[in-house]
Parts: sequence; C-alpha cells; structure tokens
Amino acid sequence: MSDLLVKPAAKPLSGVVPVPGDKSITHRALMLAALAEGKSEVRSFRMGADNRSTASALRALGVLVEEPAQDTLIVHGVGLHGLSEPKTPIDCGNSGTSMRLFAGLLVGQTFRSVLVGDESLSGRPMARIVDPLRARGARIEGRIGKKPGQVTAPLEIGPFPPPNVLSETYFSSPIASAQVKSALLLSGLYSDGKTTFQEPTISRDHTERMLDGLGVPILRSGAVVVLDGPNFSGKLPAFELEVPGDLSAAAFILAAGMLVPDSDVGVRRVGLNPTRTGFLDMARQFQASLFSAAEGLVLGETIGAVRATAGGLFGTTLAGELIPRGIDEVPIALALAARARGKTVIADAQELRVKESDRLHAMALVLSAFGVPCVETADGCEVEGVVDRPLSGCEVDSFGDHRIAMSAAVLALVADGPTRIKNVDNIATSFPRFAGTMRALGAEMSVVES
Ligand code: S3P
Repeated sequence: MSDLLVKPAAKPLSGVVPVPGDKSITHRALMLAALAEGKSEVRSFRMGADNRSTASALRALGVLVEEPAQDTLIVHGVGLHGLSEPKTPIDCGNSGTSMRLFAGLLVGQTFRSVLVGDESLSGRPMARIVDPLRARGARIEGRIGKKPGQVTAPLEIGPFPPPNVLSETYFSSPIASAQVKSALLLSGLYSDGKTTFQEPTISRDHTERMLDGLGVPILRSGAVVVLDGPNFSGKLPAFELEVPGDLSAAAFILAAGMLVPDSDVGVRRVGLNPTRTGFLDMARQFQASLFSAAEGLVLGETIGAVRATAGGLFGTTLAGELIPRGIDEVPIALALAARARGKTVIADAQELRVKESDRLHAMALVLSAFGVPCVETADGCEVEGVVDRPLSGCEVDSFGDHRIAMSAAVLALVADGPTRIKNVDNIATSFPRFAGTMRALGAEMSVVES
C-alpha cells in the first residue's frame, strides 16, 4: 500500500498538462467495439485501472483485445451475438460503471455470467439496475442486503436463451444516473421493443451519443431517451476513436491552479460535453477565473481547452441539476469551498454517499483534518471557508477512494506544513501518474510505501 506525501506549494503552479482519456467514454467505446462488426481502434491516453477492468472483462467474454502500443487498444468485434460464456466470474474491480453497464449488456446473452467486484464495489447498490432489468424480463439476481430493497454484487445473470425475449420497457428512474440509463439502453440492443428511460435531470449522455453515432436509432427529448428497438438493424459498425481527455481528472489540475496563489494552469483536448461540465459551472459560481474554449467534435463529443488562474473565491450554493452534471467533482469543489470566503452549501447530493466511498462523510473528515469546519447534512454539507490563513498540514486517509485522495492532495498544496495522504493506490483507477502530472506543474508530491 502507498501513501502520498505533499508539501505546501512553494511557488505558483504553471503549465499545460495532459490528462488521461475520459473514463466513461473509454468504458463505452470498449464495450460497443466488442459488439461491433470488425476491428475497432480505441486510443485512450494513460488508461486507468477501471477501464482495464472493462478490457479484461471483454477478454473473459471471448473478445480479442490487443494493445499494440501504449494507450492503443484494438478490439476485434464479435457482433451483437458473438460473446462467449466466461469460464469464471468476471471481476469488475473497483469499477461501478463496468459492473452496471456489463449487467445491461449481459442480460441479453444466451449464457450465464457472474459479475464480482472489490470490497467497495461489493457494497454498492445494484437494485437500481436489477429491478428495471427484471421488469423487462431479464434474469438477474444479486445478494439481498439487510436494508429493505437492498441488492449488491455478486450479480448472477442469465442464461437467457430463445424463446426468451426482453420486452419493451419504460422506466422512470427516481435518480439521475448514467449508469442506470446505460444499463437499460445496452439491454435495449437485445430487445425488439422500445427502451424508454426517463430521469429527473439529465446525467452524462455518452452512451446515447455513441449509439447515435454508430447508427442506432436513438430519440431524445430533455431527460427522456428512447432506443427504438424495432428500427435497429442489429449491427454496429467498427470505429476508430481518440478518446477526449477526462474533465473529471482535469478538475484536480484546474482546482489546484485556482487555489495556489499566482498559478496559471491548463488542459487541452478535454471532453466538454455539457452533461459533464458541472465542475466548470461550479467553479464559476465560486467566481474562479476560468476560460474554456471548444476546439472540435469527436464521435458526437465536444472537446476543448480549459485554463484556470488563481484568484479570490467566494462561497456559494451547489445544488439541483448541477450535481448530476458534476457528480464526481463535488469532492474537489469542496476543496475550493475550503478556501472560499463565506459559507458553501452542497445539497441534492445524496448520491455521493454510494460512490466508491461515502464521499460526503469522507470529505467532511478530510476538511476537518485540514482545519476547515464542515457539517454534513443528509444530502450534502456546509463548509465555512478558511480564507485568511493556510490550512493545517495533516495526515488523512483516502477512504480507498481515488477522488478523495486527489482532493486531499490539492488541499495539501495550500496547507502550512506537509501532509500525508494514506492508502492512495486507488488513484490509479482514474488518474495514473497523478503525482507526476502535478510535479510537472511545479507541485512537490511523491508516492511512498506506507
Ligand atoms: C458514470 C456515471 C456516474 C459517475 C461515475 C461514472 C458513467 O454515475 O459517478 O463515476 O460512466 O456512467 P451515475 O451517473 O450513475 O451516478
């Protein structure tokens, strides 16, 4: 196990750095490439462990996935009905997206499969996908939990041989969730009927965009999406994709630039899909100096450059539709709140309690360790920014969660002494070489054996 040692920034951070390829887009690209006809090429810079879980799951399902060069995967598509029965349970590691999306894809297969994950993933809620998939006739079962309605991994799926068919479905989800939406849409590739999904506000829409880009009939209106099964040809074409940089990873770079005095940092070619830019809007609400410019379009996804400079931040309220659009960035937004003048209130963010860790609780403890008052509420928290003095250098745990570890690392840059963040191997799930990237900007941090 390793820890991250971070020294307070002795000088401004500056430079433009690369970030890993978008984790959400990479998962989807690999899965759809496997179901396509022919050979696809997915180039995803510095792919993290979560995406590698998806690639190895596909191998377990009989798909040839080659890595001829660093950051390049060649996926030999087997067609919609060409996957084969896995010999052992499929390990999704720490990746909730892999497990939930594979569940949707596997309910349409004639064979049986089992999805397992690490300790954190094994405790995460799965009823949210099991129930709607079952409602269309799928065979899928999980472990029944102690609380009413609770279902967790392992998930046992199928077999679902003919004459079984997945029926048409309409599901109105009580939560905005791209993973639930994508599980349903992927199952819809195996149904002759329509798949209609509605959510309270729109969550990231990469699945819809990618399916649409590959010619699957997708109809959309606000937060409602329909996969028109009766008009789907049953075939997906192979494709080439250079995955945009991950704005969720870039958020840590940008936040560091906003916090360390006199800094000026930037990222290029990152995804600027409007269902993912919640962090930029949150930062603007803190009155951060931030510039973003679109540069092009890749398989329906806008890409562009973002630059952030240091400046005075002001407390704000982050709630409503902003939360699903920046769901993974709330922890790093809380790092901004720590140095913002006045109170910041986070609300409507109860989903954070069921991520890789209970992120509201984890961040409340991290902020307190740095000397920043933070009070948890059921669906958020309230933070009193500490503007006029440095935070307290400290020792904190990552709670086994990559985004908590990186948020703590950014906070440590504006502390009065060194900080040790414990248990940071998980950073590699989404941002391999995070510490090296921060060093390239002028920060002092290093990974050590604990
Ligand atoms: C993801 C969706 C989000 C996000 C997760 C990745 C995806 O979860 O938290 O890290 O790739 O679909 P929900 O939208 O399901 O809350």
